[in-house]
Amino acid sequence: MAFAPRVFSGMQPTGNLHLGNYLGALTRWVEMQSTHDCIYCIVDLHAITASWQDPKELRQSIRDVAAAYIASGVDPKRTILFNQSQVAAHAELAWIFNCTARLGWLNRMTQFKEKAGKDRENASIGLYDYPVLMAADILVYRATHVPVGDDQKQHLELTRDIAQKFNSDYREQIAEAGYADGQFFPLCEPVIMGPATRVMSLRDGTKKMSKSDVSDLSRINMTDDHDTIAKKIQKAKTDMDGIPSEEAGLAGRPEADNLVGIYAALQNGSKATVLTEFGGAQFSTFKKALADLAVAKLTPVNAEMRRLSADPAEIDRILKNGAERAAAVAQPIISETKRLVGFG
Ligand code: TYM
Repeated sequence: MAFAPRVFSGMQPTGNLHLGNYLGALTRWVEMQSTHDCIYCIVDLHAITASWQDPKELRQSIRDVAAAYIASGVDPKRTILFNQSQVAAHAELAWIFNCTARLGWLNRMTQFKEKAGKDRENASIGLYDYPVLMAADILVYRATHVPVGDDQKQHLELTRDIAQKFNSDYREQIAEAGYADGQFFPLCEPVIMGPATRVMSLRDGTKKMSKSDVSDLSRINMTDDHDTIAKKIQKAKTDMDGIPSEEAGLAGRPEADNLVGIYAALQNGSKATVLTEFGGAQFSTFKKALADLAVAKLTPVNAEMRRLSADPAEIDRILKNGAERAAAVAQPIISETKRLVGFG
């Protein structure tokens, strides 16, 4: 069966979204709305896997992330926008996939190893099972394209493995149901594109920009104001050399490479164009231009987030409507999956 193109992606409502989330994923989500049927999710079931979340704060975070999506350009009329826990089919399909995925596959997941750290025995089962739920998120809509940052690549490979094994485990039932090419679930394509698929920490160019870094100076939050953004860029770590004229000159210089990549992504251009403009300049000049660009891009988003957040009832209404629309897409797919497996 040729699958109709459909986009799915999600973010966790754990604390503030940052520039990595914005440039690595959100800007791509917004672009894809004009060419695809899109479903964007706030993955609250995933949010409780790494650590206990205060329920009041979690509820607030869900609304904040919804506001960040909309302020960045996600259009809840055109696109389905909802929070994962409100569509039960995600958890139902995850259970079936728990019996499709193999322990050996999950044992290879690098993100689990990083997040669990040394205290593995104390990690939740949910953290270990996180990528299986992610596969269910995508496949419960039979999504074909998944725009994400580079760190999600391995999880998407696992999603493809799960789809393939399910298609193979139930090949007779799938053929009987009339799927001529034996494909019940699609093998989705990761969409990892642009100059900022991996935005690095402003304090250490070898570490990913992340919500969990103890230093707030390491990241630009989408809620940061004008002065904070400028201060963080001014304090960003650099090396002794200036801006090179060619990309080869960024090799082995992770901090310079990161700042140039951020500039390129904010400008919706390439690193090569940035280097043509700034090659030979000192970091002080480049940082000033970067701060101005970041402020110009992010402060209107920030203002819109605050405007939307002032009306939580409206956000709740949007999420409820999105959950109803998402459930309507997922329902026939989960029902058919259960029938193939032999349930009911
Ligand atoms: P989360 O919330 O950790 O990240 C959300 C998105 O932001 C991207 N990202 C980055 N991109 C570039 N540079 C960075 N420093 C950076 N940090 C984060 C992530 O790659 C991601 O695209 N597991 C997912 C959430 C999820 C999901 C899904 C995604 C759950 N189910 C189904 C796609 C499809 C995650 O990492 O969320």
